[in-house]
Amino acid sequence: MSSLADSFHSAPLDDDLRSGLESQGLQVSRVGDDDRAAADRWLDAMSRGFLDGERNDSQRAESFARSRYRRKVGVYDPQSVQPDEPVATFASWGADLTLPGGATVPMCAVSSVTVAPTHRRRGILSRVMRGELRTAVAQGFPIAGLTVSESGIYGRFGFAPAAAAATWEIATRRARWIGPEAPGRLDYVTREQGRDAAARLHERTRLASPGEIDMPGGHWDRFFGTRPDAEKAEKLRAVQYRSPDGEVDGVALYSVSENEDDWAASTANVVLLLAATDAAYAGLWRFLLSLDLIGTVRASELSVDEPLWWMIADQRAARIRIQDHQYLRILDVPATLQARTYDVDDVIALEVSDPLEIAAGTFVLSAGEEPGVDVVDDPPLGVPLVRLGVAELSAILLGGVSPVTLARAGRIETDDSHRVARVFSSTTTPRLSFWY
Ligand SMILES: CC(C)(COP(=O)(O)OP(=O)(O)OC[C@H]1O[C@@H](n2cnc3c(N)ncnc32)[C@H](O)[C@@H]1OP(=O)(O)O)[C@@H](O)C(=O)NCCC(=O)NCCS
Repeated sequence: MSSLADSFHSAPLDDDLRSGLESQGLQVSRVGDDDRAAADRWLDAMSRGFLDGERNDSQRAESFARSRYRRKVGVYDPQSVQPDEPVATFASWGADLTLPGGATVPMCAVSSVTVAPTHRRRGILSRVMRGELRTAVAQGFPIAGLTVSESGIYGRFGFAPAAAAATWEIATRRARWIGPEAPGRLDYVTREQGRDAAARLHERTRLASPGEIDMPGGHWDRFFGTRPDAEKAEKLRAVQYRSPDGEVDGVALYSVSENEDDWAASTANVVLLLAATDAAYAGLWRFLLSLDLIGTVRASELSVDEPLWWMIADQRAARIRIQDHQYLRILDVPATLQARTYDVDDVIALEVSDPLEIAAGTFVLSAGEEPGVDVVDDPPLGVPLVRLGVAELSAILLGGVSPVTLARAGRIETDDSHRVARVFSSTTTPRLSFWY
């Protein structure tokens, strides 16, 4: 853990959060890293919040062992019948977010956000979110991020989708491969071998995709069904791509849903595909699209600009659905904007508003390979000015949406949207390949 992640993990709870909840007759506390009993109740509450069943002992033990990296906050109602079971859960930790140019910025990753149906819509999430974001700011996180169950929740807190995800459904017999032939070889590997290869490959590839974060502990075991409490793990198949010089450059994990009416029209569900080279990418996709007895390949959390689309003769063989995925929320405008690089040298002024008054201000961005950001009282004359909310600034940070589009949508105001768009553009489409 970095020292920032470390200090955030055990930072005290925000005073206003504590007193605000007390005024509602509620209490808030951090679940101690070694407090198994409290962690079990927290897990049960979180599980119920996400419509899951009660956890069994094996699931509780695994979760406890694998989630120490999370700062877990619980809100408790002393009047309830089970006062040790939280009525709200919230988790966060320090992650590493890739920005255009390949640099990373420390990000406060948020997850496990639930409020019990018995306590919903009393402002509990709002209090916890504000309080935990204040703590993230106080500890020095320049940005926060999350993936969402519903799109309508987080805009009010300054979050916006910055990397979209595509779900593909490909009619394999129609697609016809026209991509390159990969020179390496493919082999099935055990789920454990696949997991280890995936962990290495994600570290090799994540800096090439703005929007990716380092994979939180335990997630690889979840994907590959290598946790003792995994369900239906036997359905998963892992295949690796090895280059002619023996390097494992790619791995894919998939399961098959059989079509009982027509065996030759079964579906392969791609859980993940990681490729560190273009050859591995081509080799693995071609393999998946040519599986016998498979009529459809489904894959999600893909980029909205996949090379695969240009590797099939019939693009209409792919039905593609696009969805908001990686949500970001800038907390410190200068630190975040300075952390990415810009392909053009230009100067623009930004007037940023913030519903939570965390990151508001007027800034001058000198874009380029070594960018600078100045905090100013008034925007200087003679440079394009953008007036926007912190959510919109977070949305354009990775280059996933153009300021021209947001200006046309009435989401930002600027006297030169095209010049601003050139500043924020990225030659690599942002992507986040998993949920967290
Ligand atoms: C989402 C959830 C945490 C909200 O908690 P809550 O304590 O009821 O939220 P609050 O009372 O603080 O609501 C704050 C605002 O958000 C709005 N809001 C809350 N949940 C919303 C939702 N699901 N969709 C749209 N708006 C929502 C409220 O109406 C309120 O609006 P207002 O400020 O205009 O009055 C809770 O409904 C829940 O646990 N849902 C199921 C699990 C889930 O989806 N969690 C999110 C995971 S990403």
